[in-house]
Formats: sequence, structure tokens, C-alpha cells
Amino acid sequence: MTATIIDGKKTAEKIRSEIKEYVSGLKKKPGLAVIQVGKNPASTSYVNLKEKDCKEVGIYSKIIRLVEEISEEELVEKIIELNKDNSIHGILVQLPLPKHVNEEVAIDMINPLKDVDGFHPVNAGNFFIGKAGFVPCTPKGVIRLLKEYDIPIEGKNAVVVGRSNIVGKPIAMLLMMNNATVTICHSKTKNLAEYTKNADILVVAVGKPGLIKAEMVKEDAAIIDVGITRTGNLLKGDVDFDSVSKKASYIAPVPGGVGPMTRAMLLENTIEAYNNIERG
Ligand code: GUN
Repeated sequence: MTATIIDGKKTAEKIRSEIKEYVSGLKKKPGLAVIQVGKNPASTSYVNLKEKDCKEVGIYSKIIRLVEEISEEELVEKIIELNKDNSIHGILVQLPLPKHVNEEVAIDMINPLKDVDGFHPVNAGNFFIGKAGFVPCTPKGVIRLLKEYDIPIEGKNAVVVGRSNIVGKPIAMLLMMNNATVTICHSKTKNLAEYTKNADILVVAVGKPGLIKAEMVKEDAAIIDVGITRTGNLLKGDVDFDSVSKKASYIAPVPGGVGPMTRAMLLENTIEAYNNIERG
């Protein structure tokens, strides 16, 4: 079988146009603040794209670029200022932060109502027990793509490779909430292929280019590649696209699969924050 390519770019475009339409009907603009510390080139590129996305849909964006040497206290001060700023509904601190700044300290300072990344422990906890709150953007984007392409989740065997707080764990939770039977694999898993071969839905978020080869996937599986490794200007996923796309029924590639959806979900979360704050 030749897999249908899951087009995250197209789906994200559709979501942006819906958001643009919604925002055009609002009296007050939603606002997103993005803090970047230092000059990590990947972070710079992500932050620039976030700014561009906001502009396109009419969300006010405030990009705060801080020097690498900034102290944890100064960063915290900035976050406190944004928590109080009525023009700002969403706050995102671009990760990774420099080693001398504790990421947990920074994230814990964000008002959970403005935590559009869904990284604050209050949001992570609410999410874990199925209460309303912000769902992290990449996991939300993965589920949205599966739904957009009518890929059934209920009762299916879903395997997630990767267990990060930001991606692997929340994706596994969302798949479980959608009634999949979920297995989480990670760097200490023995015989990875024994698990991946059993997956109707395989989500890979590790950061090892080409880790998943055709012989490791089930015929007609849906494959979602969340791995991103930069080599120069090229982005590489965790899935060996050429071989796997001949065996799977669906494949979300890198680039053009989940990445654009992460950005679109950030805009959606910003609108959710706006509605919670401005409309009670
Ligand atoms: N760095 C890479 N991905 C992300 C993300 O989703 N949110 C934040 N804040 N930083 C990131």
C-alpha cells in the first residue's frame, strides 16, 4: 500500500483561516507574548514563525528577546509583568532556556490561565485528571490530524515512542482518553520493534533520524512522525519515510506533518485563553 500523506500544512492553514475569521469579529484583540532567552537558531526560527502566524490571524504578538546572560530573577520579573498585562492572554517561554535558568521555575511563574503551552503543573494536573485546561500544542495537533483524516482511535493499539513531559506523555494520555489501548516505549525499551509492529497508530517522538524502518511497522498502520532533527537547513524525522510510506496507510511526514499543527494549536490555545479571561 502507498500511504496517504497527512498534510499538516494544509490542515493548519484551514485552522488559521477559521481563527482569523473568529478574531475579526472581536472588539479587543487577543494577545500572545513569547519570551526567547539567548540566540539558539532553532528557537529564533520558531519564535519568528509564531510572530508571523499571529500577524496572519490578527492576534497581537509581543516578542520579548532577552540576552543569554539574563538572571533567573530578571526572567521571573518579566513573566510577572506579563501576567499583569491586560493586553496579553497567552504567555510562552521558548525552551530550551540557558543552563543557569531553571525551566521549572520559569514555567511555574506563568499564570496558569495564560499558560498556552499547557506546561504549568496546574494545567498538566488538570489534563491528567481530565479537567478543562490547556492541552500542550504538539499532542493536541497530533490528535487533531488523526481526526481530520478520520483515522479511528477507539479500540486501536496505539504505540508512542518517547516519554517527554511535553510530547510523549501527553500524546499517550490523549490517545487513551480517545479509547485507544496505549503502549509507551522509550530509550530503555527492549525489542522496540516487537511493540511498534503491533501498532495500528504509531507516534514517534524521539529525535533519532530514521529510527523507524518499514520492517518495524504493521501493514496499513497510521504513522505520526513527531521527531525533528536539524542538520543544517534540513529537518529530519524519526521515521524512514521512503520505506515506511510504502507499507503504512497514513503517514505524517517531517517536515509538513505535525510541525505546522503545533503552531496552529498555539493560536487556538491563545484564543481559548482570551475567551477564558475576557469572557469569564
Ligand atoms: N521548544 C520546542 N518546542 C516548544 C514548545 O512547544 N513550547 C515551548 N515553550 N518551547 C518549545
